[in-house]
Amino acid sequence: MEFPNRLADRYNDTVVRQFAVMTVVWGVVGMLVGVIIAAQLAWPELNLGIPWLTYGRLRPLHTNAVIFAFGGCGLFASAYYVVQRTCQVRIFSDKLAAVTVWGWQLVIVAAAISLPLGYTQGKEYAELEWPIDILITVVWVSFAIVFFGTVGTRKVRHIYVAHWFFGAFILAVAILHLVNSAAIPAGFMKSYSAYAGVQDAMVQWWYGHNAVGFFLTAGFLGMMYYFIPKQAGRPVYSYRLSIVHFWALIFTYMWAGPHHLHYTALPDWTQSVGMVFSLILLAPSWGGMINGIMTLSGAWHKLRDDPILRFLIVSLSFYGMSTFEGPMMSIKTVNALSHYTDWTVGHVHSGALGWVGLVTMGSMYYLIPRLFGHKQMYSVKAIEVHFWTATIGIVIYIAAMWIAGVMQGLMWRAINPDGTLTYTFVEGVKATYPFYVLRLLGGLLYLGGMLVMLWNTLMTATTGRAVSVDVPTTVAHA
Ligand code: HEM
Ligand code: HEM
Repeated sequence: MEFPNRLADRYNDTVVRQFAVMTVVWGVVGMLVGVIIAAQLAWPELNLGIPWLTYGRLRPLHTNAVIFAFGGCGLFASAYYVVQRTCQVRIFSDKLAAVTVWGWQLVIVAAAISLPLGYTQGKEYAELEWPIDILITVVWVSFAIVFFGTVGTRKVRHIYVAHWFFGAFILAVAILHLVNSAAIPAGFMKSYSAYAGVQDAMVQWWYGHNAVGFFLTAGFLGMMYYFIPKQAGRPVYSYRLSIVHFWALIFTYMWAGPHHLHYTALPDWTQSVGMVFSLILLAPSWGGMINGIMTLSGAWHKLRDDPILRFLIVSLSFYGMSTFEGPMMSIKTVNALSHYTDWTVGHVHSGALGWVGLVTMGSMYYLIPRLFGHKQMYSVKAIEVHFWTATIGIVIYIAAMWIAGVMQGLMWRAINPDGTLTYTFVEGVKATYPFYVLRLLGGLLYLGGMLVMLWNTLMTATTGRAVSVDVPTTVAHA
């Protein structure tokens, strides 16, 4: 059905447009901070002696900006876009959707001010202090009402598989946030965790790992299940596999957290449970990857001249790579070598830059022109340039970290015949220096690509006009 004169009433694309543009803006900011801290690791004096610019304060700013601002805005934009199309209904509440747009930007700005000032709960990926945590809760509950409200009022019987993933992401993040951030306030912007000792560590890494599983994975799989079929013009390879993929993934992720706490005071059996579930996790992860990549079967030639599809498909290759590496690193004996080294940082960024980054960029390249009334971005050549700078940047970044990590692990454990250590710690730091410079180069390339995207987005927006998009849903539904 077509409602050519009433498209503006049919779907609310204002919120999608706002989140999509902010994805690009926060991507540039978050990656710029990443580049700054990468440079500080090579040249520590770059903090200029100013407390706000010290590594310890900028690092959480980087992680919060890339995960929650860049990744988060991308997830909001795609969930709102996809849910309206595949449910064939306007978003449940325009007002609450607007609350999520402005509330989420407020959370990000509060993070950008409070973290450099040194306010932190000291829990990785959950650093923000209690007043900001309350704001996050308000935004998230609004998000859940808008999303599930839209699914609940859908005009089609079927619930498209992307929504299973978006829904699990929204629910799981709500639970994780509420449980892990439970704290006793001790003044404005100061609090103490509700848990103590090893329980605190366990809760934190149950949260931390599931933040990876549900924020950095499930939500982006929702994106993948809509935008790959759309861009490829083919139905999802196997609908049955997508359902198996969904249940196996969400069940398994919940138990894998203890692999972050190997060889700690956590009971040994708990660590082993974490390891076993991490190994099992390889299967559903690869099931999802195969489902996405095989969606292209019969249309492989499209990869040759469609840079957006290349972003989406290469993101899945990195997803496959990091979900193979993760289970390997969860094996205790492997972790004894990799833990505390830059190998972990290499693993993180093959997932973060390769999977999360590329799938978000590909999806935004699909969305942004449509939201501004164009068939494609202002410059397709620039998308091509972005793809190659990003990919080369990722390879340099992760290769440098893998070599540095394995080298550090081996140097720390090397022992002379008389039982003394072969290397002092500082010798390991010195040996790592060239790899930190190389990582900076990789990061600069990745950021350079993001700046090209910002330019392309601005040109697309200023030469177009804000419109509501109507796209037939047959392909994604098939
Ligand atoms: C220009 C691109 C980027 C650069 C140069 C960069 C650089 C860095 C650096 C230097 C660290 C600190 C490593 C350490 O403490 O030893 C870091 C940590 C981290 N970054 Fe990035 N980053 C970039 C992009 C991203 C993106 C796009 C994401 C996520 C979507 C991301 C997620 C993370 C996470 C989760 C950590 C914490 C890792 C850990 O605790 O092991 N980064 N990044
Ligand atoms: C099957 C899937 C995966 C498994 C089993 C897994 C396993 C692991 C293991 C064992 C560690 C090292 C823990 C340590 O020694 O401290 C780790 C760290 C990490 N992984 Fe994965 N990983 C998987 C997929 C991913 C993906 C796809 C991403 C990103 C999108 C990711 C992001 C991270 C982050 C951010 C950390 C660092 C946490 C920290 O210490 O701050 N992982 N993962």
